[in-house]
Amino acid sequence: MRTQVAIIGAGPAGLTLGRILERAGVDAVVIERRSADYVLGRIRAGVLEQGSVDLLRRLGVGERMDREGSAHDGAELSFDGERLRIDFHELVARRVTVYGQTEVTRDLMEAREASGALTVYGAEDVALHDFDGERPRVTYRKDGASHEIRCDFIAGCDGFHGVSRASVPHGALSVFERVYPFGWLGVLVDEPPVAEELIYAHHQRGFALCSMRSRTRSRYYVQVGMEEKVEAWSDDRFYDELRRRLDPETAERLRTGPSIEKSIAPLRSFVAEPLRFGRLFLTGDAAHIVPPTGAKGLNMAIHDVAVLGAALEECCGERSSAGIDAYSARVLRNTWRTERFSWWMTRLLHTYHDEDAFTRRIQRADFDYLCASRVARQSLAENYTGFVPDAGQ
Ligand code: FAD
Ligand code: DHB
Repeated sequence: MRTQVAIIGAGPAGLTLGRILERAGVDAVVIERRSADYVLGRIRAGVLEQGSVDLLRRLGVGERMDREGSAHDGAELSFDGERLRIDFHELVARRVTVYGQTEVTRDLMEAREASGALTVYGAEDVALHDFDGERPRVTYRKDGASHEIRCDFIAGCDGFHGVSRASVPHGALSVFERVYPFGWLGVLVDEPPVAEELIYAHHQRGFALCSMRSRTRSRYYVQVGMEEKVEAWSDDRFYDELRRRLDPETAERLRTGPSIEKSIAPLRSFVAEPLRFGRLFLTGDAAHIVPPTGAKGLNMAIHDVAVLGAALEECCGERSSAGIDAYSARVLRNTWRTERFSWWMTRLLHTYHDEDAFTRRIQRADFDYLCASRVARQSLAENYTGFVPDAGQ
């Protein structure tokens, strides 16, 4: 089989890139290791920046998002029970949309299926070949048979544990990493959210987040130690811990019910450089990871493929290679800006058990600064809703 772009991975990055290329008239095949149901069963991010929402609309996959997603003009921080609302709309005239990653993925999958574009699910032993030359290839096995796809470019959209980054020759890649000594235990429950907007809470017992998927479905997280096992957390234990980390009024309002999903996610900051190796490009979690505190992982993935999609369209149309030449530097600039913000939000809101009294006072001073300074709140709002560089940057 031959195609112009072989896309490895059918997560948000791969499927969004597939849609961009399809709209641009560039032929692409998506190759995914798992089944479609498995991909849709993963509960992950919930917050979309305005730029991501705008792109999904432009790609013709925004209809259900506009109907079922909810626009949020602000979010709340709670620091040892003291509350501060960050009014995005008033501060930076932007908002975010709460709409689950699962739903974004479903919309993209359905649009791809309707268009007749090819997605190979259940591809085993995916391998990348010859991307340092003119004629890259991707091989895989499916149902016991071997397959080969010849292509012009390979887009590595296969997440942190994928094969794309691992295929880059040793020594060609630099990595920058920070692993945090805790994770997030998340629960999904069919009960109305505790508040209309998200609440990010710092407490001496640890961070907590109250989020949602709809008016009737809530998503809650609490910071837990790396050694914790999900089996040790009954629903009652989870809700008790969550209540203790919230201000009393919010804790009182919490509606609880049987969890429909419960899992622990580790927290990590990670950047690979560069993001292009001949005709292979890395995007999304294959290229970088942020701790989830700023709700950026999914948005970064969408940003990357918007840049790559435009560059590949330009190049496949034989107009210019300027876009693909600039891809790595352009995406890395956005990546590091977002890494900084996610690291800072994580530092502000989590409890580090080895931290000294000085560091705790600095965390408190950071929160007090936000309370006292519109400029500080504006900076948070600008980053949270999605930074748009000044012209010429
Ligand atoms: P992925 O979504 O990981 O998609 C990669 C795809 O490639 C997968 O479908 C995978 O099956 C496939 N694949 C992997 N290896 C191969 C292979 N060898 N061959 C073919 N296909 C392959 N972000 C937030 O903003 N907020 C959150 O709350 C949040 N929670 C998260 C919880 C967890 C447990 C994880 C892992 C991530 C979370 N994230 C969160 C991050 C966010 O979900 C990711 O940033 C986003 O999914 C990145 O999209 P992606 O398409 O780059 O990668
Ligand atoms: C959700 C996850 C996040 O990491 C975040 O910052 C906000 C919301 C969520 O899953 O709803």
